[in-house]
Amino acid sequence: MILVLNLNASVDKKYKINNIEKGTVMRAFNVDNTAGGKGLHVANVATTLGEDALVTGFLGGYTGSFIRDKLCEMNIKNDFVSIKNTTRECLAFITEDLEQTEILEPGPELIEGELDQFLDKYRRLIKDSSIVVASGSIPKNLSTDIYKNLIEIAKESNKKFLLDTSGDLLINGIEAKPFFIKPNKDEIEYIIGRKIETTEDVLKEIDEFHKKGIEFVVVSLGKDGSIAGYRGEKYRIKVPKVKAVNPVGSGDAFVGGISVGIERGYDIEKILSFATACGTSNVLEEETGIVNIETVNQIMKEVEVLKL
Ligand SMILES: Nc1ncnc2c1ncn2[C@@H]1O[C@H](COP(=O)(O)OP(=O)(O)OP(=O)(O)O)[C@@H](O)[C@H]1O
Ligand SMILES: [Mg+2]
Repeated sequence: MILVLNLNASVDKKYKINNIEKGTVMRAFNVDNTAGGKGLHVANVATTLGEDALVTGFLGGYTGSFIRDKLCEMNIKNDFVSIKNTTRECLAFITEDLEQTEILEPGPELIEGELDQFLDKYRRLIKDSSIVVASGSIPKNLSTDIYKNLIEIAKESNKKFLLDTSGDLLINGIEAKPFFIKPNKDEIEYIIGRKIETTEDVLKEIDEFHKKGIEFVVVSLGKDGSIAGYRGEKYRIKVPKVKAVNPVGSGDAFVGGISVGIERGYDIEKILSFATACGTSNVLEEETGIVNIETVNQIMKEVEVLKL
């Protein structure tokens, strides 16, 4: 089983409005509410691809109930800790000029005992899992060492840990040597503290991560594909040109693809082309963090994985 951690789920609300004008009343023509969170996208992708995946984390209040119902409708297996405070909402306003303006709530505070409940559940679920995937941000009052601690627990039972997060969560998580990380350009630049300009810059950073004990590193570059390092070997992955409908969540679809490829025992080049096709398939869908199996199989034939 692929165990997916989504510690800061949200109800994503997408509003279509004419324009944003400070200090006025604006009416939306349309609002669309979905269950959001990067881990939820990963679990959705793995489930769509036919693997056994389960998502866990914290859910509370009416927004938490909404997410549980949606996961049930989508047949995504889940086992969340119920918390006292209310799961967050994230708002996106799409204006006539097709610009998107977002407001991301910080997430609920956990009260005493809720983290311990989660850790008990995690230790129990991990026994039936082969891989753990952790994606995204965390509730307000959790330590930025949380992923580091969860990686250490996974290591005690020899489970591969895939970490897709940013900022201090990523910096601290790296200390515990996750099996896999997938920073995008912004994320890697933030953690190394300078710009990356060339393929050589990326390859150098991948070597640094290998030296720190991370076996599998992918630096994702949106429509420019990605650069990967696996146990010292390096790869440049090129994607076919497509007409993007909604690129948000492509990284999550990519990580979902990586987890499925590992679970199925694909060789490294097939893991990379499969995950890349998942990222590109997401770009072609209106909804965030979803893939279409036929599209994935088609695009996989067009992805180039070049050993460097
Ligand atoms: N416009 C695009 N065309 C084709 N493939 C794409 C495009 N955007 C993304 N992809 C595929 O998805 C992968 C991940 O995309 P990206 O680097 O944008 O991830 P990300 O920034 O982590 O995304 P998110 O955090 O929104 O999920 C890319 O390496 C590529 O394989
Ligand atoms: Mg990402």
